[in-house]
Amino acid sequence: MDKISVADARKAEAVGRHVRLQGWVRTRRDSKGGFSFIELNDGSCQGNVQVVAPGELANYEAVVKHLHTGASVSIDGEVKASPAKGQATEVLASNVELVGDADSETYQLQKKGHSFEFLRGIAHLRPRTNTFGAIARLRHQVSMSIHQFFHEHGFYYIHTPVITASDCEGAGAMFRVSTIDPGDAPKVDGKVDYTKDFFGKPAYLTVSGQLQGEAFACALGKIYTFGPTFRAENSNTPRHLAEFWMIEPEMAFYELTDNMDLAEAFLKRIISDALKFCMEDLKFFAEKLENNKELFAKLENVLNNPFKRVSYTEGVDILLKSGKKWEYPVAWGNDLQSEHERYLAEQHFKCPVILYDYPRTLKPFYMKVNDDQKTVRAMDVLVPGVGEIIGGSQREEKLDVLESRMREQGLEPEGYGWYLDLRRYGTVPHSGFGLGLERTILFLSGMANIRDVIPFPRTPGNAEY
Ligand code: 4AD
Ligand code: MG
Repeated sequence: MDKISVADARKAEAVGRHVRLQGWVRTRRDSKGGFSFIELNDGSCQGNVQVVAPGELANYEAVVKHLHTGASVSIDGEVKASPAKGQATEVLASNVELVGDADSETYQLQKKGHSFEFLRGIAHLRPRTNTFGAIARLRHQVSMSIHQFFHEHGFYYIHTPVITASDCEGAGAMFRVSTIDPGDAPKVDGKVDYTKDFFGKPAYLTVSGQLQGEAFACALGKIYTFGPTFRAENSNTPRHLAEFWMIEPEMAFYELTDNMDLAEAFLKRIISDALKFCMEDLKFFAEKLENNKELFAKLENVLNNPFKRVSYTEGVDILLKSGKKWEYPVAWGNDLQSEHERYLAEQHFKCPVILYDYPRTLKPFYMKVNDDQKTVRAMDVLVPGVGEIIGGSQREEKLDVLESRMREQGLEPEGYGWYLDLRRYGTVPHSGFGLGLERTILFLSGMANIRDVIPFPRTPGNAEY
């Protein structure tokens, strides 16, 4: 008796095999003919396998006819060609064992449509729904594609720290990590004395692995990080999380255009792999989500056309000339909001846009200053449906310029001595970017809210589970 997955049991080539299937009951339907249909799911694919449980089973009356939605079962049987439409196979059970019951009075995931908002409140059970199973499989595939892409292109995967004293983005949106009890914190001149804290100085959850990534790129050439990052911004939007996963390649001897070329090839690979390996789940998203009928057209379009490369200045011009009424005002020097980014990608260019050369005042200290002294070699990749999905830049490789940029942004160069060493010793032009994993999943699936594409979302006011 082979233990096989539901995904394998659904394939025509499984016909004739005697197998064991283990999973959870989605529904049970008792037929007048004295047998029951059990829709079984084990997370291996979007679909269920239909199990036919004949009335002759010894425990038919006592157990099978009382199987509830959500109950776990172990079923032995033979895979048969199915006479029903829409499925190649079904399983004729010779033994049905109840492993764990699910009380239909209290189990919250009964077989009916649930809003995503309701499901957020039962984040431990939502992996059992079609949508969240599909999201989990898609996240897995995208993660694998990312590792494969970089591995094939000669990048090393570097594990950068989660706890750090450096504020990479210089935005001050960091979560402090401390073992000091606020009630009796040691103080000097009325201020908490962090020299007495665990790390001997203030430490935080990282907002980005970039700075440490640069140290490795300036030794190994091409590296990437892939890990959780944290932002204590109080932004309650469908595109922001307090904890999200970021992929950050960093390359020595790369200029901004090399960086753009890499970002474009990288995103295209993620999309083409998703189309290759996640078709069933993508079809589900296209059919089941509102306003998502164009999902495949959108993905194919992105895959088959070059990204539009436009300077920030040109982008602002387009927005000003659009005649649109914006919620946030457009002016050279203002940061672009999601409405502006999406207009450029969705309505104006109708394709991904790489916006580059942003005003220096809008971007972090590490970005290379252009000759015009007004802009930096930044690049944001904006995609339809999401807006910014990638943020990156060429890095400032000159020590003196970097130090003055730090001061300009209110950072003490003394606190970044190790980072400045990378410019003191063997400095090179280098570039990199960060891709938000959850925004990538939003883009690929057409899901509307970032809270629904990560297993356990962390947002202001919510650290449940
Ligand atoms: O543009 P960001 O802030 O860039 C950096 O952190 C750089 N250090 C990256 C680099 O050059 N190595 O963030 C990069 C991406 C964004 O484009 C977005 O996709 C995602 O990370 N991101 C978020 N995703 C979810 N919630 C948030 N609060 C996010 N902030 C950024
Ligand atoms: Mg950004």
